Amino acid sequence: MKTLEVKAESKSSYIHIGEGIQNLSKYINDRKSIILTDSNIIRLYKNDFPKNIPVIEIGLGEKNKTLNTINYIMAQLVKYEADRTTLLVAIGGGIVSDVGGFAASVYMRGIPFGFVSTTLLSQVDASVGGKNGVNHEGYKNMIGVFNQPEFVICDTSMLSTLDEEEFRSGFAEIIKAGAIKDVSLFNYCSEYSQTALDLNPDAITHMVYESVKIKANIVEADEREKGERRLLNFGHTFAHALEKMTGILHGKAVSIGMVLAAKVSNKLGIIDAEDAELITTVLNQYGLPVKSEIPEDQLFSAMKQDKKRTGDSIHLVLLEKIGHAVTREITYNELQKIINDLRCDI
Ligand SMILES: NC(=O)c1ccc[n+]([C@@H]2O[C@H](COP(=O)([O-])OP(=O)(O)OC[C@H]3O[C@@H](n4cnc5c(N)ncnc54)[C@H](O)[C@@H]3O)[C@@H](O)[C@H]2O)c1
Ligand SMILES: [Zn+2]
Repeated sequence: MKTLEVKAESKSSYIHIGEGIQNLSKYINDRKSIILTDSNIIRLYKNDFPKNIPVIEIGLGEKNKTLNTINYIMAQLVKYEADRTTLLVAIGGGIVSDVGGFAASVYMRGIPFGFVSTTLLSQVDASVGGKNGVNHEGYKNMIGVFNQPEFVICDTSMLSTLDEEEFRSGFAEIIKAGAIKDVSLFNYCSEYSQTALDLNPDAITHMVYESVKIKANIVEADEREKGERRLLNFGHTFAHALEKMTGILHGKAVSIGMVLAAKVSNKLGIIDAEDAELITTVLNQYGLPVKSEIPEDQLFSAMKQDKKRTGDSIHLVLLEKIGHAVTREITYNELQKIINDLRCDI
């Protein structure tokens, strides 16, 4: 087990990578606590939960990441007589942690909370960084807060029960972390792809640890996403539009988005073609998609319509080389022209 501290402005958070859910009691430390989880985790891991702790169950999928679910959790917390010192432990993937972190942040103006992170995506991304929240009227993560969990347990052994597609899609965020900040992690992903896909504990622990370290450093420098934190959005501008249009898994959308962002970087003369191509090569090794079924121009229109965006330009995350990303403000007109050129090339 390896522990990383995320020293955010608000408070510190401790991420324990390779710790087991069986040791959760150690972190609860005899405090009054309540577990929040989903039905899949209950079915698979209920016996590993500490005994005699009330459990709040929420439904599966993005459709449950709403204020209605928050309402339900509030009612349950009142029912179980949670007070300001009660610890809420969210056990599950990114949906459970996003909802749980938000619920804990607003109940009685904030109670302590921790996560047991059970998907690869949530271990490397969702549970680190303090963004918690819910969707609103079809728009993702529109309502939420920045608030750090007290602890995060990344139990890598729980990944063995994860659906194959969910598991593979988590690697997109690991490859992203390497691509934007750490060429050695990127090369490791390439060299040990099969070992990692076979769930070798050392390979997985290494990848999760290195990815969390990258995200933690970025979050420490810029918790509220005013600059550096934007780098984590590499591939995400296109991915969000794609996810919305097709409903594909986040990691798959990020995979396609990264390939596009690398190609745009190359068109702008920022990265050489060989390096840009490496992104596609590694994603292929994990069986991740590298090309959208939606034509790029339609994707571009959807991106432009995103209600969260304003103005005539966007901050796009581009690659200078593997391990080094930069942000560029680029007008929609300019981007449209590049995307049209790319379509002609493909
Ligand atoms: N807060 C952030 O910074 C941040 C970052 C990235 C993503 N997210 C959010 O995370 C969410 C996606 O997270 P996710 O991919 O973990 O989805 P998820 O929570 O829906 O989990 C995926 C599925 O796997 C099941 N599952 C979870 N752990 C399992 C296990 N060990 N074994 C078997 N099944 C298991 C779940 O029940 C669910 O059906 C999105 O809502 C996204 O917006 C948040
Ligand atoms: Zn992501």
